[in-house]
Amino acid sequence: MTRTTPIIAVLGHRGWLGQRVVPALVQAGLTTKVIVRKGSEVGEVPHGVEVVILDWANTSAFTDALRDVDVVMYGPSRMVISSNG
Ligand SMILES: NC(=O)c1ccc[n+]([C@@H]2O[C@H](COP(=O)([O-])OP(=O)(O)OC[C@H]3O[C@@H](n4cnc5c(N)ncnc54)[C@H](OP(=O)(O)O)[C@@H]3O)[C@@H](O)[C@H]2O)c1
Repeated sequence: MTRTTPIIAVLGHRGWLGQRVVPALVQAGLTTKVIVRKGSEVGEVPHGVEVVILDWANTSAFTDALRDVDVVMYGPSRMVISSNG
């Protein structure tokens, strides 16, 4: 079956930006998944939001997590790639 709504992935959902963007995406009826680095707190996410926990440095896990995703929203103000963030 053809999908009619995009899937949005949010990185940094616990930040100032992510805490505003995720509920807004859900309210807009968009399929939303948050990607959380391994070892971090997931915290609360709105009902229906998929949570994917992965090792930031694991490229193939990252690729798999983004396979069905149409848009990535990257919230954190800096990007550090290492196995512990
Ligand atoms: N206009 C305003 O009033 C206002 C206010 C605040 C921020 N901002 C701006 O909004 C932008 C984002 O700020 P923010 O507070 O939303 O986010 P942030 O403080 O930069 O990051 C917090 C979120 O990003 C994750 N994160 C942080 N560093 C990461 C890294 N290296 N790799 C992966 N994930 C990481 C954190 O997860 P963990 O739990 O894993 O750490 C957390 O979910 C910034 O540019 C900031 O200047 C604007």
